[in-house]
Amino acid sequence: MEQILLELAAIKEEMLTLLNEVKDENALKNFREVYLSKKSKLASLSRYFKDLNNDEKAIFGEKINQARQEIDRAYKNKHDELFFASYNKRLLKEKIDLSLPGVNYQVGRINPLRKVEDEILNIFVNMGYEVYEGPDIESDYYNFERMNIPSDHPAREMQDSFYFNPSLLLKTHTSPAQARMMDAKKGEAFKVVCPGKCYRRDDDDATHSHQFMQIEGLVVGHNISLADLKGTLETFLKAVFGEKREIRLRGSYFPFTEPSVEVDISCAHCLGKGCSLCKNSGYIEILGAGMVHPNVLMMSGYDPKEYSGFAFGVGIDRVAMLKYGISDIRDIYQNDLRLFSNFYKER
Ligand code: PHE
Repeated sequence: MEQILLELAAIKEEMLTLLNEVKDENALKNFREVYLSKKSKLASLSRYFKDLNNDEKAIFGEKINQARQEIDRAYKNKHDELFFASYNKRLLKEKIDLSLPGVNYQVGRINPLRKVEDEILNIFVNMGYEVYEGPDIESDYYNFERMNIPSDHPAREMQDSFYFNPSLLLKTHTSPAQARMMDAKKGEAFKVVCPGKCYRRDDDDATHSHQFMQIEGLVVGHNISLADLKGTLETFLKAVFGEKREIRLRGSYFPFTEPSVEVDISCAHCLGKGCSLCKNSGYIEILGAGMVHPNVLMMSGYDPKEYSGFAFGVGIDRVAMLKYGISDIRDIYQNDLRLFSNFYKER
């Protein structure tokens, strides 16, 4: 019996010493597998029970239980010690310094072209116009033929184009949307504005870009006159540039309108008196317009004796440049962030 108790004490000492030396969670796991299993040295002590009398059994059982409790306690302490050590280490690593300054993201801004486009469309929508955007890749038929520009017409030279093949090109103006709308309306009266990108084989410089934006306007109905066109454009341009500005119509030529006009707006600086900004003319050219040519009406199934209409095409880039004082059209397309900030003030 004494021998057995000594063996128990030795095993207990060995286990407590080993536990004490455990340095990490892996070692603790190994310890559990080897020393706390059913086949461990401690568990194997139960083989002695059969040789002991009842009193001895009671004492031996009690001693084994005490040893187990002591080892369990030491094991638990070791486990907690290791767990909290690694937990604290992790917390320290994940610590957030709330006093550090945050990251400042640059906020995006709306391109002046988009602003001007929205503004103009809104003005016309409020006057009861529909909005329709034609395709960028347009047929020669809609871009030219239907706008009264046959293939041998000299006006084709005014609009050098990007062709994919002889019958398909990037649209050179928003006017083909006129023909597409008239086709869709099948002889009914209507009012529409058609925004869109235009492409011409121009060399880029301060006032020309191979890609630019226009808004086309078209009204078709009974008794539509040049006076209606003038009144509409005056309302539109005063809404964009301010009540003080005056407009002026000059005779011009477009194959798809008759008569055709060029529309000027009085200079922002001198209001029509003449200054260096408007080269002493007092006025700045802003858009092209006219009464829809009878041929265009006819090709779209409208009888010119019953129907008349007016059309205009305004360059969004041009309006944006005048409104925001942008002197080089290329700036608009080069993503210079100053353009989108308050650097350019509305005028
Ligand atoms: N399509 C013409 C251009 O791009 C503008 C225009 C439209 C003129 C409608 C008259 C009527 O120059």
